[in-house]
Amino acid sequence: MKKEKVVVSIGGSILIPGNDDSKYIAKLARMLKEASETMQIVVVCGGGKIARYYTETCGELGGTTCQCDLLGIGATRLNAQLLATSLGDVSSIDIPMTAEAAAELSAPDNIVVMGGTEPGHTTDAVATMVARELHAKRVVNATSVNAVYSDDPKKVPSAKRFSKLTIGELGDLVYKEHGAGKSSVFDPLGIKIAKEEKIDILIVDGRDLSELRNAILGKKINGTYINSH
Ligand code: UTP
Repeated sequence: MKKEKVVVSIGGSILIPGNDDSKYIAKLARMLKEASETMQIVVVCGGGKIARYYTETCGELGGTTCQCDLLGIGATRLNAQLLATSLGDVSSIDIPMTAEAAAELSAPDNIVVMGGTEPGHTTDAVATMVARELHAKRVVNATSVNAVYSDDPKKVPSAKRFSKLTIGELGDLVYKEHGAGKSSVFDPLGIKIAKEEKIDILIVDGRDLSELRNAILGKKINGTYINSH
């Protein structure tokens, strides 16, 4: 059966915050299996605090950016292994190393799980690269914020919450964030690819599994819908 394709980028801070992680990952796996009855899904896992620990420690030891990135990629792949274990038979046997390999492995009856690929970007960018290969129209970013805001809502209570943005507007916001040296809501390279390939991006609270399910299934979400068309 032909199914609509969707790529999910799930932040490491969602997968392994260090708070009953196996319970959440098991529930996430159950939801993904259910959603895969109607959708063809690829999941790209972030590295979270394990990645941060290794990249920072590597940097302190004088490692190059490339060496630090390779350790970060290792952490993302560890998280992918955890989710793949929880998914069992429905997940592909291999954790692919490239976007091309992921697209090749992806099929209507499996869920491909992967982490990072090569130094120089994050798993958000990998998700858009996989979407480009698969000709998927949507990337769902399951993250620790429930939407895109004009400023950090924890620091700026008057920050505006966006339910819809164009990809150009997201690019402007991320550019502004980078200027201030903050980490970005979505990888700038991922935004560039999404713009070129007309891939929509949905930013949702990854700990809210019914919200994440709605985003995967293409239903109405409470987070931010970024239109690339
Ligand atoms: P993440 O995708 O988890 O990065 O990759 P992040 O944006 O810092 O994490 P979140 O989204 O806030 O949770 C972790 C690190 O692994 C390396 C980078 O160093 C990145 O910061 N990495 C990851 C790569 O070099 N290439 C990849 O394809 C993926």
